[in-house]
Amino acid sequence: MTAQKTALPNDLEPFWMPFTANRHFKGSPRLLAEAKDMHYTTVDGRKILDATAGLWCVNAGHGRKSIVEAVQRQVAKLDFAPSFNMGHPLSFELAARLTSMLPGYSQVFFTNSGSESVDTALKIAVAYQRAIGQGTRTRLIGRERGYHGVGFGGMSVGGMVANRKMWGTMVPGVDHIGHTHNLEKNAFSKGQPEWGMHLADDLERLVALHDASNIAAVIVEPVAGSTGVLVPPKGYLQRLRQICDKHGILLIFDEVITGFGRLGSSFATEHFGVKPDLFTVAKGISNATIPMGAVFCRKGIYDAFMNGPEGMIEMFHGYTYSAHPVACAAALATIDLYREEGLFERAAELSPYWQEAVHSMKGLPNVIDIRNLGLTAGIELAPRKDAPTARGMDTHLQCFEKGVMVRFAGETICMSPPLIIQKSQIDQIVDTVSSVLKTLH
Ligand SMILES: Cc1ncc(COP(=O)(O)O)c(C=O)c1O
Repeated sequence: MTAQKTALPNDLEPFWMPFTANRHFKGSPRLLAEAKDMHYTTVDGRKILDATAGLWCVNAGHGRKSIVEAVQRQVAKLDFAPSFNMGHPLSFELAARLTSMLPGYSQVFFTNSGSESVDTALKIAVAYQRAIGQGTRTRLIGRERGYHGVGFGGMSVGGMVANRKMWGTMVPGVDHIGHTHNLEKNAFSKGQPEWGMHLADDLERLVALHDASNIAAVIVEPVAGSTGVLVPPKGYLQRLRQICDKHGILLIFDEVITGFGRLGSSFATEHFGVKPDLFTVAKGISNATIPMGAVFCRKGIYDAFMNGPEGMIEMFHGYTYSAHPVACAAALATIDLYREEGLFERAAELSPYWQEAVHSMKGLPNVIDIRNLGLTAGIELAPRKDAPTARGMDTHLQCFEKGVMVRFAGETICMSPPLIIQKSQIDQIVDTVSSVLKTLH
């Protein structure tokens, strides 16, 4: 046996960091040690206002007592139980609570992340079509500039070139409708842009190309987050629903970001009044305390699988940690907290203030668009010549130095604070970002 290398606590090399410029980060690391409510504390004791709810996920704020205690109790009581041909009560309680949040959805399938939720939803869609005798419907349609996680399914229906280029399109039979981003028509729209409902008709182009009998499902983010907060034009999602209905195509919403209050409603489906056949969630489901995701299925989908011999597994899909007891405990406590504190309503009430605050940055150097909905905002900057994304990265770094954490997606500064944010903290975010943008070259 070879002697084990002594691990140094401050050796940053062994961790291959996800979605990170590893060499740059390890040259000047930003390490977080603690978090409470609206703030992180760095390892050197600096308080950072969290304008991103972690990664769009800590919707109720950090370190919430009731969630922490529920997790502590559960891990001591039942650390793990399988959900394959076995069960534990919390998983059923959670599924019942979730389906009662929204009429029309009768089952949830549990996963551990957004990526798993997406791949699960795609698999359910294809299997459902087969179950109802539409087995030729295998093609999956995504949208340019979409982000659906990093599994092979999600990557393939996703529309971000950087996420795809190293792997090509490994899932065959995938196509994309065009995105909805249009600076010429819609720049500086407050909330949903007026122009662009007709962009949904692009789905008709793909139906004409492939024939509806070959298409299983269309997946879109109701509000695209990771490509810089792209808010759907008025009527666009409704139109997409109509075209799907016309052609027997399932509509999947990826609500990994929009779920659990981000738009000031329980889910985007409620916010926009459009009902997809399946929708994915993760992140806010457990306030990110313990990883968890889920797929909501509209009435009838599960039933289509419930035939054949009763002793047979109906769908050969699932994860060891599907409905992990500790994640279920975290999610139940999270949903209670959302309700007790009225956090979805709070997000709705705050959103006009948020909208005016973020739009006050119009006119600052290099700002070419500002977009918002609920408690999300994207501030798009003109790219620096020959250095794409550098301006976004610099804004992120300088804001962090000034005590505010914002994200950047390419050239867009993205903000999605916890729903417990105070108006004075909204002002602090806007003051900080503004002061950085005023001096950034
Ligand atoms: C819309 C959407 N789908 C899927 C994912 C992937 O989620 P995860 O990183 O939990 O796999 C994300 C992550 O940001 C997302 O925004």
